[in-house]
Amino acid sequence: MNKRHFSEKFYEKYGNRNDRPVLFFSPGRVNLIGEHTDYNGGFVLPCALNYGTYLLLRKTGSKLLRLSTLNFNEDEELAVDGLFIKKAKSWINYPLGVMNEFIKKGIDISGLDLLYYGDVPNAAGLSSSASIEMVTAVALNELFSAGLSTLEMVKMCQKAENEFVGMNCGIMDQFAVGFGKKDHAIFLNCDTLDYENVPVILEECSLIITNTNKKRGLTDSKYNERRSECEKAVELLQSYKAVRNLSELNVTDLPHLPEYIHDPVVLKRAKHVISENDRVLEAVKVLKGNNLARFGELMNLSHDSLRDDYEVTGIELDTLVYEGRKLPGVIGTRMTGAGFGGCTVSIVKTKDTKDFMAKLARIYTEITGLIPDFYQPAIGNGAGKLPC
Ligand code: GLA
Repeated sequence: MNKRHFSEKFYEKYGNRNDRPVLFFSPGRVNLIGEHTDYNGGFVLPCALNYGTYLLLRKTGSKLLRLSTLNFNEDEELAVDGLFIKKAKSWINYPLGVMNEFIKKGIDISGLDLLYYGDVPNAAGLSSSASIEMVTAVALNELFSAGLSTLEMVKMCQKAENEFVGMNCGIMDQFAVGFGKKDHAIFLNCDTLDYENVPVILEECSLIITNTNKKRGLTDSKYNERRSECEKAVELLQSYKAVRNLSELNVTDLPHLPEYIHDPVVLKRAKHVISENDRVLEAVKVLKGNNLARFGELMNLSHDSLRDDYEVTGIELDTLVYEGRKLPGVIGTRMTGAGFGGCTVSIVKTKDTKDFMAKLARIYTEITGLIPDFYQPAIGNGAGKLPC
């Protein structure tokens, strides 16, 4: 991102070069392992990316709120006058939802000029929405001296997404983009919110993210369906153990489940969540012990479980993963995020990355007719202010 170009765009849009805006950034995230466990009180292992959302903003001293983005042709102007209501222009709802959370806390928001720019692809499972939410939160926190902690903002952003945007996500994405640390993954217990930064040392390997570029359709409704299937499993298991969520069980409980859960679909969902938590625990252990080969195997097993038991993959993600695994230098590869399209994350020997991308792109296009995008991200820090 070219800061001068971005500032120029800001002045072109809003004028008044004497009043300089302030610059903030929030990353997107990639989850290395621990998928669909967050809303089940389980473990996740995401990292913040060096891609994300930039926000330039300044106070206007009026009651007028002006929002714009370089990504879409969708500006909005509205008066700050009580709580905002949901808009048809979908990206606007992320900042508005966050602003509502500030207002609900009694923090006075006055007029602002805001210009966003994101270099993380939208709706691709890399948390572009959490990134817009969190960049808004850290910027408002600073400009209005709200004194909120990162955790408070993470929770407010999740609430904005659940209640204002209407997507019933867990806490992983907002947490990862809030607490990211350069060159580290975040090992988070989504029940207690205890976390630990685990160094990601890839040595002669690299992270590659591949975007299926599949237009995602019913993601939200399928996501909610999975959530209720997990809740159903917890309900059915009450006569086995009085658990609050599936993550209170572990792999030693698996053989007992069929006695209590007769619906094969619900049983598979529970199996995924319980086995995935176990994989995250082992993944953290082997990552700390520099055993990247086993880490890769666990990534592969995670994807298999998401395909077979959780059923959130599909032809595009499966093609990238199973064709990718056949290529030289691939240590591990899996879908990341909610699934049903979006991206895969792979660990590939650096010397083989060029070949991996070229060959996989060819095979993927042959099979699906779609052209994938590849990213070679670095692991970055969480949301905060940048020098202008
Ligand atoms: C989406 C949600 C997260 C999480 C993942 C699946 O990214 O926003 O809360 O549930 O899906 O792991």
